[in-house]
Amino acid sequence: MAWTTTRGTEVPPLGQGTWRFGEDAAHRTEEVDVLRAGIEAGLTLIDTAEAYAEGRSEEIVRDAVGDLRDQVFLTTKVWPSHAGREDVLRSLSQSLKRLGTDWVDLYLLHWPSAKTPLAETMAGLVDVLERGLARHIGVSNFPAALLEEAHRLTDGRIFANQVRYGLATREPEATLADVAARLDTSLMAYSPIRHVLGPDIPVNGVLADVARAHDVSPAAVALAWILRPAAARWVVVVKAARRAHLADNAAALGLTLSAAELDRLDRAFPASGEDLTLQAF
Ligand SMILES: NC(=O)c1ccc[n+]([C@@H]2O[C@H](COP(=O)([O-])OP(=O)(O)OC[C@H]3O[C@@H](n4cnc5c(N)ncnc54)[C@H](OP(=O)(O)O)[C@@H]3O)[C@@H](O)[C@H]2O)c1
Repeated sequence: MAWTTTRGTEVPPLGQGTWRFGEDAAHRTEEVDVLRAGIEAGLTLIDTAEAYAEGRSEEIVRDAVGDLRDQVFLTTKVWPSHAGREDVLRSLSQSLKRLGTDWVDLYLLHWPSAKTPLAETMAGLVDVLERGLARHIGVSNFPAALLEEAHRLTDGRIFANQVRYGLATREPEATLADVAARLDTSLMAYSPIRHVLGPDIPVNGVLADVARAHDVSPAAVALAWILRPAAARWVVVVKAARRAHLADNAAALGLTLSAAELDRLDRAFPASGEDLTLQAF
């Protein structure tokens, strides 16, 4: 299952995150196995970054993807300390080696840089796009005004902006979602359940109710809520190291919430009205 962006690219709506993968060598086999099972379950977008476990997360992704490279929409990211024009190319070349591939589907600037002018980084991203090392380019953690700036600097080539979004973290709705829709930029939601179903967070009653009605887990409902029709079309990146969590999450692909359920969830998790704040590294 994939949705087609207005730019004509097919993107899987539900992807697998890999933050913290590769940090403990003892978990390597399980991490490779769960990613591979996720691809087989239809979670064919994989999100990684050069910064995750100092590149070892990318190596785990390589082992999981193996001969399925053509079925996977692969995303990785350059850390802002490597945001100079030449550094972007160098970082991506190293990522490609670790990933065992000649190209990524999407290459993102991980966070705004506090030191490197945005124009330099955007020139570096356009370079890798033009060399065919990345099929698409984008940014991450960009509030609306900065996204507009990136869009202008790349002649409209920013394909996606990856930001924190979920039932309990709705800041992108304040301004960013409308701006992204206008610029034809996809939005990718990260940490979609961490702030809704963390170990110390009691399961919200409405969420539990809706989950029971569909015989799915609260996590599946939290993910399906992001995939609802809305101003911007979201791609969701969720991380599961456990197979049981993966199975819960995959159920979101077949789950459609009714207007009444969306309305109940909206009231149970009201948006704060606050905008995404700018953080740079
Ligand atoms: N661009 C950025 O700056 C940025 C920042 C943060 C994250 N990301 C990306 O987005 C991905 C997802 O975000 P995230 O890892 O922060 O948070 P997340 O996916 O919202 O949550 C992951 C946590 O939730 C647990 N979990 C997974 N499925 C569950 C389920 N069905 N029920 C209950 N708990 C479940 C996981 O446990 P187990 O692992 O034990 O299964 C893990 O502890 C990251 O891995 C990364 O690829 C990007």
